[in-house]
Amino acid sequence: MSFIGTGLINRHIEDYLAATGWEFDQITVYDRDAGYANRFAAGLHGRGGTVRVTDSAERAVRDSDLLVFATTAPDPHVTDPRWLAHHPTVLNVSLRDLSPEIILASTNVLDDVEHCLKAGTSPHLAEQRTGNRDFVDGVLADVLHGRLRPDTGRPLVFSPFGLGVLDLAVGRFIHREATAQGRLTGMDGFFPE
Ligand SMILES: NC(=O)c1ccc[n+]([C@@H]2O[C@H](COP(=O)([O-])OP(=O)(O)OC[C@H]3O[C@@H](n4cnc5c(N)ncnc54)[C@H](O)[C@@H]3O)[C@@H](O)[C@H]2O)c1
Repeated sequence: MSFIGTGLINRHIEDYLAATGWEFDQITVYDRDAGYANRFAAGLHGRGGTVRVTDSAERAVRDSDLLVFATTAPDPHVTDPRWLAHHPTVLNVSLRDLSPEIILASTNVLDDVEHCLKAGTSPHLAEQRTGNRDFVDGVLADVLHGRLRPDTGRPLVFSPFGLGVLDLAVGRFIHREATAQGRLTGMDGFFPE
């Protein structure tokens, strides 16, 4: 796998992958700041595979089946669809690294279509380019429910505008604690339906 961008978010993603038992033959690390990339590589949880730091975005993209973008790039800097000729799975967390050409050549799964097609994200640029949303294959729920089986003959790009998972976890914790302490106040008719 490749980490592209080695700031706070990719550190947490790496923590998560380690904590949930993922193992990789090789990990490639790229950041436009080599010092950040080296520090990130030195702090990786050891899991047996080789670790390579590269100064080439192309190398990082071509190297791996699984790519995680978490940069602060405001505009696409990965623009050539041929870099993804090996059809990797791309976690497009920072949302603005990929050119519309790459989006249009890929299977695209979003978390929420309305959220994601705004603010100059790569899928938003693709919508502006084509004038339609035909390139959107589905949302995360479609994959989880088995309604969408991604085409393995193209890159697979998952673009999450923000799942709010932390909000859900905190809300659940507060609900559980309030219930246990008898401090829960029910609101009848909260959901109109
Ligand atoms: N989609 C989501 O749900 C979600 C949630 C949280 C954060 N984010 C996004 O994740 C991104 C990363 O956030 P962070 O807190 O880790 O930022 P950060 O500033 O800690 O790290 C960003 C890293 O990207 C590197 N970088 C910038 N441009 C680059 C380029 N063109 N190529 C390679 N590396 C480059 C920087 O040198 C830096 O090391 C942000 O864009 C943030 O908005 C997305």
